[in-house]
Amino acid sequence: MTATAVRGIGVPVKRKEDPRFIRGKGTYVDDVKLPGMLYMDIVRSPYAHARIKRIDVSKARAMPGVIDVITGEELAKANLAWMPTLMGDRQMVLPTDRVVYYAQEVAAVIATDRYIAADAVLAVEVEYEPLPPVLDPFEALKPDAPLVRPDRDQKTNHIWHWEAGDKEKTDRIFQEAEVVVAQDLYIPRIHVASIETCGCVANYDPATDKLTIWMTSQAPHAHRTVFSLVTGIPEHKIRVISPDIGGGFGGKVPVYPGYVIATYATLKHKKPIKWIEDRSENLQADSFARDYHIHAELAANRDGKIRALRVKVLADHGAFDAAANPSRFPAGLFSVCTGSYDMEAAHVEVDGVYTTKPPGGVAYRCSFRVTEAVHTIERMVDILADELGMDPAEIRFKNFIQPHQFPYKSPTGWEYDSGNYPAALQKALDMIGYRELRREQAERRARGELMGIGISTFTEIVGAGPSHTFDILGIKMFDSAEIRVHPTGAVIVRIGVQTQGQGHETTFAQIVAEELGIPVEYITVEHGDTDTAPYGLGTYASRSTPTAGAATAVAARKIREKARLIAAHLLEVSPDDLEWKDYAFRVKGAPDRYKTMQEIAFAAYTNFPLGLEPGLEAECYYDPPNLTFPFGAYVCVVDIDRGTGQVKIREFLAVDDCGTIINPMIVEGQIHGGLTMGMAPALFEEIVYDENGTMLSGTFMDYLLPTAVETPHWKTAKTVTPSPHHPLGAKGVGESPTIGAPPAIVNAVVDALSHLGVRHIDIPITPAKLYRILQEKGVAE
Ligand code: CDP
Repeated sequence: MTATAVRGIGVPVKRKEDPRFIRGKGTYVDDVKLPGMLYMDIVRSPYAHARIKRIDVSKARAMPGVIDVITGEELAKANLAWMPTLMGDRQMVLPTDRVVYYAQEVAAVIATDRYIAADAVLAVEVEYEPLPPVLDPFEALKPDAPLVRPDRDQKTNHIWHWEAGDKEKTDRIFQEAEVVVAQDLYIPRIHVASIETCGCVANYDPATDKLTIWMTSQAPHAHRTVFSLVTGIPEHKIRVISPDIGGGFGGKVPVYPGYVIATYATLKHKKPIKWIEDRSENLQADSFARDYHIHAELAANRDGKIRALRVKVLADHGAFDAAANPSRFPAGLFSVCTGSYDMEAAHVEVDGVYTTKPPGGVAYRCSFRVTEAVHTIERMVDILADELGMDPAEIRFKNFIQPHQFPYKSPTGWEYDSGNYPAALQKALDMIGYRELRREQAERRARGELMGIGISTFTEIVGAGPSHTFDILGIKMFDSAEIRVHPTGAVIVRIGVQTQGQGHETTFAQIVAEELGIPVEYITVEHGDTDTAPYGLGTYASRSTPTAGAATAVAARKIREKARLIAAHLLEVSPDDLEWKDYAFRVKGAPDRYKTMQEIAFAAYTNFPLGLEPGLEAECYYDPPNLTFPFGAYVCVVDIDRGTGQVKIREFLAVDDCGTIINPMIVEGQIHGGLTMGMAPALFEEIVYDENGTMLSGTFMDYLLPTAVETPHWKTAKTVTPSPHHPLGAKGVGESPTIGAPPAIVNAVVDALSHLGVRHIDIPITPAKLYRILQEKGVAE
C-alpha cells in the first residue's frame, strides 16, 4: 500500500461530508419530521426585570390547532421550573413569578402547526410589573443594587471570586519595577450567531419507553447525563442524537430551556415535539460570550523586559451562570493570560457578577475565555512598547519563552508542552516584509496618512482534560474512539466528539488510514448518537484533535498490535520478526514477504491463530497527560479612512503552529473561518442594551456579522512544532485564529494612531467610534 493510496496524515483529502451538504442532503434537526409531530413556540419577556402578576393562556388555548400552553407553574409541579446549569448554578426553565432578562422564556405553546404556535404566542396575555434592571456589573456589586437572584441564599449579586498566580510576589515586583503600564479594557458581549439556530425534536415513544432527542448539541453524552439526572429517566432510556449541525462555536454547549420544555411536552403528550428558534430568539436569548471588564498592568524593566502581570476582571454573567467552564476554573482558562512571554510572576483575579441579561460566559470559539486572555496580554505588550518607544516586534522577541524552556511552567500554573515563538514571528515578519512596511508607514505618516501595522503572537491552550484537572459537573474530561475493522478491510470508527462543520468525518478517517494502512475511502466515521458512539465530552474548545484524535490513534495502534499476531500466523514467523513498514507487516530482512491490513482483517474472521480472540476491534478512552498549546504570529496592516473612520485591512498574514497537521486543507479552512470570526468582534459585532435592558442588536440589521464583502484576503503560513505528549504530535487549531486576530487588528489600528497619542481603543472599532477619535485628534476629514 502506498501513501498515495492510503491518503493518511498530511494529505489534503477532500471533505467526505461535503457531497451530502452541497447536494442539500444533510440532516439538520429541522429536517427531522416525524408522524404526528407537534410544534412549540415560546412566549418571551419584553422586560429585562419584572414581576409576573398574571399569565392568561385562555385565548391562546382556545385557538384551533393549539394543543397546550405550558407555564412555569405547571413545570414547578413536575419539579422542572428550574434546571441545573453546567456551572453548578441553576436556571429558570420557565418563571413562576419574575423574569430576569429581556426575551427570557415565559411560557410555551404547543400546536399542530408552526404558524399556529407563533400566532398563539401572541395570544398569551402576561401582566408584568417592571422592576429596575441591573445592567452595569460595577453597579450590580453595590450594596443597594437590586438582587437579580433572590432565590439564592445571598444578599449580593456576586457569583464567585477566583484567582491564580502569586499575589505577594507579583505585588512586590510591581513595587520595585522600573516601568509600570496600566490599561482598562472592555471586551463586549457578543453572540456566536451560528448559521443554524438551536432547536430539538423530542420524541417519547410509550411502546419502547424511550425518549429520543434530536438536538443541536455540541456535547450529546453530557447532555444525556444531565437530562437523566434532572428527569430521573434512566440514561439508557434516553437517546440524544446530534445530527448535522450548522456551527456550534460554544453556543450549543449550554442546555437551553427550550430543550427541557420540549422534552416535558413530549413526555406529557406522547407525541414528537419540534422546537426551532428563530434568528432573533437565537440572538436575543441564547447564552452570550465575553462581557469582560478588565484592568491589566504590566511591570517591566526600562529595557523592555517584562517582569510581572497583574489583572483584575469583572465578568458579567447575566442572570444565570450557565457557562460550560471546567468546574475548577469558573473563569475558564483566562489565567493563560501571561501568553507567550516569560515573566517572573503574575496574579489574576476574576469576579463573576449577576446582571439582568441573558445567561452567559459561553466560550465563543475559544478554549474557555482564552480570547479574553490573549486580547489582554497582546494589547498590554503593545502598550508597554509604546511607553518605552520600542518596536512591537522587538519587545516580543525580547520577552518570548525560548524554545529550550519547554516544557514551560507558566507563573499561573500551566505547563506549556512545546513551542518556538521566535521562529513563528520571524517567519511572519519576513513573509510580510515588516521593515519595508515600517518604512512605508513613516512616509505615509509624513503625508498625513494613517497606516498601522499590528502584531499578535499568541499562545492557545486546548484539549481539555486531563481528567485530574478538568471536569464538568463532576464528569471527567477525556475522550474516546472505537474502531471496527470488518472482514473486507472496511472500517467504522465511532468517536466521542462530534463535528459541527470541522470535518471530523474526514480527518478522523485519515488518522485511522495512516495508522492501519487502509485507504481513507474504506473508513466511515460516525458520531453524535449516544446509542452508538462511545461516551465523550463533546466538541468545543478545539479539544477534538487533542483528545478524541489521540484516542483514535491509540485505538488504531491496539488493532495493529493484534494484527501483528495474525500476520505472524499467516506468514508463519514469530511476531517479533515482523516490522510495520510502508503500511504493511513485513518480515524483517525480507520486505517482499508481507501482509496488508486488508489481508489480516479477512484472516481475523477466517483464519486466526488458535487461542486468539477473533475479530479486529479496539476502543480507547484517552485521558490526555496535558493540554496542547498551539500558537501563532499574526501581522495585520490597516489603512484608516480619515473621512469615514473606516478601517481597511490591507493585508493580514497568519502564521500558525498546531503541531502535526492531519489535513492541511481543513486546517486552512479552519483558519480562514476563524480569522473572519476574529475580525468580527474587532470591527463589527457587539450586543447592546438600552437603559431598560432591552436588546438593541437583536437582528442582523443591527448586529453586524461580516460577510465575504467585508472579509479581506487572508494569507497563511505554518510552522510545525509537534506536541511531545500527543500520539500524533497534533495540537488543536480551530480556535487559534479567532483569538489571535482581534488583538492583531486592534494593535494595527492603535499603531496607525499612536503618534497622535492614542494608546488603546476598545473593540469593536466601528467607523463611528474611530471617526470620533479622529475628530478629537484633529485629523478627521
Ligand atoms: O474540537 P474541534 O474539532 O473544533 O477543533 P480541532 O481539534 O482544532 O479540529 C478542527 C479540525 O481541524 C478537525 O477536523 C481536525 O481534525 C483538523 N485538524 C487537523 O487536521 N490537524 C491539526 N493539527 C488540528 C486539527
